[in-house]
Amino acid sequence: MHSVFETAPASPAIPITFATTTTWPAIRDGLAAPARRFALASEFAAKPGKCLILPSADGQIAQVIFGLEEEDAKSRDRFRPGALPDLLPPGTYRFANAPYDSRLATLAFALGSYRFSRYRKAEAPDVKLVPPDDVDAGDITRMTEAAVLARDLINTPSNDMGPEELAQAAQVLATRFGASFNCIVGDELPRRNFPLIHAVGMASPRAPRLIDIGWGDPSHPKVTLVGKGVCFDTGGLDLKPSSGMLIMKKDMGGAANVLALALMVMDAKLKVRLRVLIPAVENAVAGNAFRPLDIFTSRKGLTVEIGNTDAEGRLVLADALALADEERPDLLVDLGTLTGAARVALGPDLPPFYTSDETLALDIARLAQQENDPLWRLPLWPAYDAWLDSKVADINNAPSGGFAGSITCALFLQRFVEAAKSWLHVDIYGWTPSAKPARPEGGECQAARAIYKYLSERYG
Ligand code: BES
Ligand code: MN
Ligand code: ZN
Repeated sequence: MHSVFETAPASPAIPITFATTTTWPAIRDGLAAPARRFALASEFAAKPGKCLILPSADGQIAQVIFGLEEEDAKSRDRFRPGALPDLLPPGTYRFANAPYDSRLATLAFALGSYRFSRYRKAEAPDVKLVPPDDVDAGDITRMTEAAVLARDLINTPSNDMGPEELAQAAQVLATRFGASFNCIVGDELPRRNFPLIHAVGMASPRAPRLIDIGWGDPSHPKVTLVGKGVCFDTGGLDLKPSSGMLIMKKDMGGAANVLALALMVMDAKLKVRLRVLIPAVENAVAGNAFRPLDIFTSRKGLTVEIGNTDAEGRLVLADALALADEERPDLLVDLGTLTGAARVALGPDLPPFYTSDETLALDIARLAQQENDPLWRLPLWPAYDAWLDSKVADINNAPSGGFAGSITCALFLQRFVEAAKSWLHVDIYGWTPSAKPARPEGGECQAARAIYKYLSERYG
């Protein structure tokens, strides 16, 4: 059970009543006279996100009213109750009536009590929740733990989260669930045929590596997760301007989220043979950095011309996807913070996903909606594939023109996947630019919950 949850509180939990502007007058009329007068004097109207704390006659906190959008409102934020931990005084609470979705409200409450406390002692709210009876608190705990892992990994600045530290975090997770852990480091990469991972990572004094975790019964269907682990993205010799570089500690958000997903899969003991591959590198600037128009032969054998050293994520994923593909997995998933274009198209909260498996696409879209882990399908548009052509190599990593940047990145990756039965690629942002209920500013868990639910349905 996550520490925000309390199943057997010492004293009775304080009830939180959810109200809308419409339901509020009747709720108010049902209150004892002093509380009703207090509510009227406060001019509380149960507007969405507003909170009223009602005292008892002896001055204790008797109950809380929290405003939600109307039942039929066009957009209801099912994570709205995630604002509560920031609004409530210390104590143990319970839901007195059902919000629109008690399961997501419970999850939101837990996600909203997250603090990144590594560098300054936690100002974490001392607020606990008795989970509603009809909610699977174990599953919510698992999803919360996963989100905390992803957020902590992303929020940790690059000086403390280089390729080695990322590998250590992966190893801690592997050890906890009895999974195997392997890592190919530095000059071992070209020797073992991972030329692109090496090319991107070699300019950093912090050696690049390929993390490889294995878990579960080998006779179960094989599911392989690949995460972009660029621990800092300067852009390389095609250096980013300072505004573009500022939050590039988050460029290992794909890795953080595949680890979060792996945590949920292993904790729920899904019937899969899981493999997690993370190319962990730093895209740095130095005399030995890879250069524009360099050409490398990738693991798969395709020659890749470097159109832009800042399109490094697809390079490291290409070698990792090629390795994953060699085993013909049942399902191959990759997550990465790959393009600014994805954010231009859909904004930070709605990552695009790509697959040519129509059934998988429908399931992922449905579960993204169900779990409030938004994802939106974009096409692997075949006509744009020619934009990846190079005049001198098999493929270029950064088409000139810059149109449809997230799509052309997906098409690039597709060239390295052939044998997997289905492939899902998600171009995540991994970051909440300004705080929203249940989503504090900073690193964010994206796509992992929707995919976890998909895997639970298919392999649970
Ligand atoms: N890590 C970035 C993508 C990114 C940038 C994500 C900003 C979120 C916010 C990636 O490595 C990158 O730099 N992509 C380039 C690709 C381009 C050079 C083809 C981009 O999107 O500009
Ligand atoms: Mn880049
Ligand atoms: Zn990057």
